[in-house]
Amino acid sequence: MKRIGILTSGGDAPGMNAAIRAAVRTALYYDMEIIGIEKGYEGLIEGSFKGMDLASVGDILHRGGTILKTARSERFKTEEGQRIAVSNLEKCGIEGLVVCGGDGSYRGALDLAKRGVKVMGIPGTIDNDMGYTDYTIGYDTAVNTVLNAISMIRDTNSSHERTTIIEVMGRECGDIGLYAGLTGGADAILIPELPLDIDELASKLMEGMKRGKNHSIIIKAEGVDISVEELRKQLLERTNLDIRTVVLAYLQRGGAPTARDRMLATLTANRAVCLLRDDYESQAVGMSRGEVFEMPLDEAVQIKREADLYLIPLIDMLSK
Ligand code: ADP
Ligand code: F6P
Repeated sequence: MKRIGILTSGGDAPGMNAAIRAAVRTALYYDMEIIGIEKGYEGLIEGSFKGMDLASVGDILHRGGTILKTARSERFKTEEGQRIAVSNLEKCGIEGLVVCGGDGSYRGALDLAKRGVKVMGIPGTIDNDMGYTDYTIGYDTAVNTVLNAISMIRDTNSSHERTTIIEVMGRECGDIGLYAGLTGGADAILIPELPLDIDELASKLMEGMKRGKNHSIIIKAEGVDISVEELRKQLLERTNLDIRTVVLAYLQRGGAPTARDRMLATLTANRAVCLLRDDYESQAVGMSRGEVFEMPLDEAVQIKREADLYLIPLIDMLSK
């Protein structure tokens, strides 16, 4: 291929810039032109294209967000939107595309592939909700952001003898909650992959109180079907604890990417461009047991993420 494109789509994730940098510099290294498409699939429809050179990706490796911007595009889900997108790619002579995004973006990529565009997906989302890869770009940074928040809340919890419910992102996936909760010493972790039992949670907190534990952290993933305020109310009805709530929200989507996220972004973007160079059919690039790999895009989107539920007993064993 002589001219390829790259876009970022869905929720932004720390490390997307590292991926853009690696893709652009790999393409230029192999004498391919690379076009940046702004605002994800929306920019594909609007024809918001710009040529990328070596300098255009200078000084972005360490920055959160995405210099190409991102969007959620309803128009792209329609026949008409996709037809315009493909026609714009053809008009611009773009022979293949790198799409950095989450599972929704991959479904969009698959639609493009069905219309004859060669698309390489690289996993960009803080949620870690993609089944075919061990990790997604941005997840490690988000977990570390949550960990920092837990540490800070722990300080004030301990001074005031309080319990705090911290809500974390992740859509229907509990990974951010599970990993940040276990490594941050949370007393309870509520994730959508497990049933919610408020009576059991209240008893656990009260048992802790009886043992002399006078402050606690509860991590609740956003995919658990109860608001932090409702959960607080229901716990207040069952305990005599002083309970506060914190919703971390978009804090988790920003910040400098960790080394792990930069590495994942760099390796997967580099591989994606090499696959386009070699004219592969559409693939999803991921990381498994520390190794970068690719598999057909249509197969990758079928794989459902399984939560690491073997970690749950450890939380009960270790949080005392
Ligand atoms: P993420 O990629 O982070 O999961 P979204 O689910 O919002 O984020 O998806 C990003 C974009 O991908 C959507 O705005 C839409 O343009 C496109 N997309 C999502 N789902 C589909 C689908 N089923 N078919 C075609 N395009 C889709
Ligand atoms: O997919 C990333 C994510 O941050 C989810 O964790 C969250 O549910 C969602 O995006 C929020 O989306 P928006 O930016 O559209 O509010």
